[in-house]
Amino acid sequence: MHSERKEYPVEILRGPFKYSLFKPFVPKKKALELLEECFDSGWIGEGPKVKEFERHICEVVDNKYFTALNSGTSALEMALTFCKTIPQEKDIVITTPMTCMATTIAILNVGLKPYFVDIDPFTGLLSPLALEGIPGNIKEKAAALVTVHWGGNTINIVGLSEFANKHGIMIVEDAAHALGSTTHALDGDSAIVGGWNAPGDFTCFSFQAIKHVTTGDGGGVSFKHKKHWERSKPFKWFGIPRDERKEHILGHSSYDIIEAGRKWQMNDIAASIGIASLSDFKRNLERRRKVAAIYDDYFPVITKKGDFPVSVITSPGSSYWLYTILVRDPYHFSESMRAQEIEVSNVHVRNDNYSVTDGFTGGRLKMPGLDYFSEHAMCIPIGPWITDDDASFIAKKALQFGK
Ligand SMILES: Cc1ncc(COP(=O)(O)O)c(C=O)c1O
Repeated sequence: MHSERKEYPVEILRGPFKYSLFKPFVPKKKALELLEECFDSGWIGEGPKVKEFERHICEVVDNKYFTALNSGTSALEMALTFCKTIPQEKDIVITTPMTCMATTIAILNVGLKPYFVDIDPFTGLLSPLALEGIPGNIKEKAAALVTVHWGGNTINIVGLSEFANKHGIMIVEDAAHALGSTTHALDGDSAIVGGWNAPGDFTCFSFQAIKHVTTGDGGGVSFKHKKHWERSKPFKWFGIPRDERKEHILGHSSYDIIEAGRKWQMNDIAASIGIASLSDFKRNLERRRKVAAIYDDYFPVITKKGDFPVSVITSPGSSYWLYTILVRDPYHFSESMRAQEIEVSNVHVRNDNYSVTDGFTGGRLKMPGLDYFSEHAMCIPIGPWITDDDASFIAKKALQFGK
C-alpha cells in the first residue's frame, strides 16, 4: 500500500449521512413477491428466474447474447479467459489504473499481465492518445484492451476501438458503472453499452449491491459474437451443457464436459431481486440524468488544469452511476462536505497503489493524467434518493468547499 492514512472521527468517516452517495435500490414489495414465488417453486438455484432476468437485460442492452453470472468480477474473468490465446502468445492486457481493483484482480486471476496506460485528466478514462506511446512488442503481445466506463461515461471508445482493431486486440468493456449508458456504435451511430452494435467484443456488467440494478451480488457479460455466448453457457457452471442434458436412469444427468468451466452462475434468489430492481431501472436512470443536469448548471466543465471546482467531461448518454468533480484539495473538501452530512468519495483508488501490482508497475506509476485525476477527483451524491433541492444544496456546498 503506497499511501498514508490520517485519523478522523468515525462520524466523518462513516456517517450516517443525510445525503448518501450509494444506496441499494430495490422495490421491496415486488422483490418479496418474486422471492416468495421462487421459494414456493422449490427451486432456488439457477433456473427460470435467471432466464427471465437474462431476457430483461437483453432488452435493456439491445443484444441477444447475454449471460448472467454471480458477479461483475466473474464477468471480467470470463471475458478475459475467452481472450486468452493458448499457448499464451498474447498474455498482456492493456488497461487503465484508475478503476475498481476488481478490473486488475480479474486480469491477474486469469494469468494475464496488466499493462497500465495513462488516463485523460479531464475524463478519468483511458486516453486514446496515451495508447500511441505503447511499444510495439507490448501491442504484439496484447490479448485484450480493457476500458472502464468511469461513472457511466464512454467518451473514449472511438479512439480505443480504432486502436484495438488496428492491432487485432479484443475489446473488453468494463461496464460495471454503465448499465443503460449509450456509446458510439461501430457504424458511427449510437449504441447502448453492451448492445449488438457497440464496439466491445465483451461487455461486463455488475449487479452488485449499489449498482443501478442489483441482485445483491451478480454480474453478466454481453457478447458481440455468438460463439462466445455459446461457450459461456456451459463455462459458467463447470462446463456442463445444462440446456442439453438428459435424465439418466441412475439419477444423474447425462452430458459430456468438453471444457473445464467455473462455478460462476447466477441463482434464482439473486435473479428475483434483480427482476424487481429492473422494474425501477428506467425511472432510476432518468432521475440520475435529471440530477446530473442540475449539477451541470452549477459546475463548469473542465477546460484546463488548475480550474476548481469543475465537472469532468461526460458523455451525453451517461448512466451517471457517479457524478465526478475535480476539487483543489480533496481532504478539505471531504471533511467539509461530510461535516454537512453530505457523503463524498473518490470511490476507487488508483490500482498502482496496491503492492499486488508492483510486479507490473515497478512501484507507483508516474503518469500525468492519472496523477492529476487521482489527486483531484471526488464524487458527489447522485441517485433517485436525491431531490432537486438536495442537488442544489449539494452543488452549492461543493462549489464553496471545492475551491
Ligand atoms: C469498475 C468496476 N469493475 C468491476 C467491478 C466488480 O464488480 P462486482 O463487485 O460485481 O464483482 C466493480 C465493482 O464495483 C467496478 O466498479
